[in-house]
Amino acid sequence: MRRKIVAGNWKMNMLPDATMSVLEELQTLIEGATAEVVVCVPFTDLNYAYYATQEKKTVHIGAQNMHWEESGAYTGEISPSMLTAINCEYVIIGHSERRQYFAETDETVNKKIKAALAHNLKPIVCVGETLEQREAGETVNVITSQIHNAFEGLEAKDLDNIVVAYEPIWAIGTGKTATSEEANDAIKEIRNQIEKDFSTGDISILYGGSVKPENAKELFTTSDIDGGLVGGASLKADVFSKIVNYDKE
Ligand code: 13P
Repeated sequence: MRRKIVAGNWKMNMLPDATMSVLEELQTLIEGATAEVVVCVPFTDLNYAYYATQEKKTVHIGAQNMHWEESGAYTGEISPSMLTAINCEYVIIGHSERRQYFAETDETVNKKIKAALAHNLKPIVCVGETLEQREAGETVNVITSQIHNAFEGLEAKDLDNIVVAYEPIWAIGTGKTATSEEANDAIKEIRNQIEKDFSTGDISILYGGSVKPENAKELFTTSDIDGGLVGGASLKADVFSKIVNYDKE
């Protein structure tokens, strides 16, 4: 079901003490927010994040990656049940940084989505094109095939538990945001592909890439953008809360 979501991706930042203080402050600043709020923290902060938020339950906690296998000889990896055992609710799958630096492919993304769903974890599935692909006019092809391959073998009912994030790689951490029109058009194409594959486009699709308080409202109030996946601007409670509260005066 489409709903407004503002998610933070802390990437490889934040020690446990800071995790708890940022989340404490954030909860006081987002009281009454209409969007669902998710914060995806490093594995080592998950437990702290859960305890810092479990009383108010206004912030949902997510991880940033996981393995698809249940257990075994995969040194350094984290399984879906390791995440659910510590009350993790969401997990980012296929972030471009993982595709770029850690050999994540559409195939591993697909396996991870299936494993996440089988464990009642909600995947936040990332797709997006490089600058080179955009300039070559390949954006629509790239993002629609990424989503088609990522969702292979899923059923329409699975879409309720999945969130998609369109993150053009050239806009991540660069300060260069896609215009609201560019982002909305790309997200429309992703939704059309999902509709083609599952006969419904009723799924939350977020925009990510240099989202900040100044551009959140314009992006999130377009026809097809259901919120944001926010990197750098999610690390400070006062800044991130302004993005969460994009619809307030
Ligand atoms: P920035 O908001 O820092 O550009 O990062 C976006 C992102 O990669 C979120 O997953």
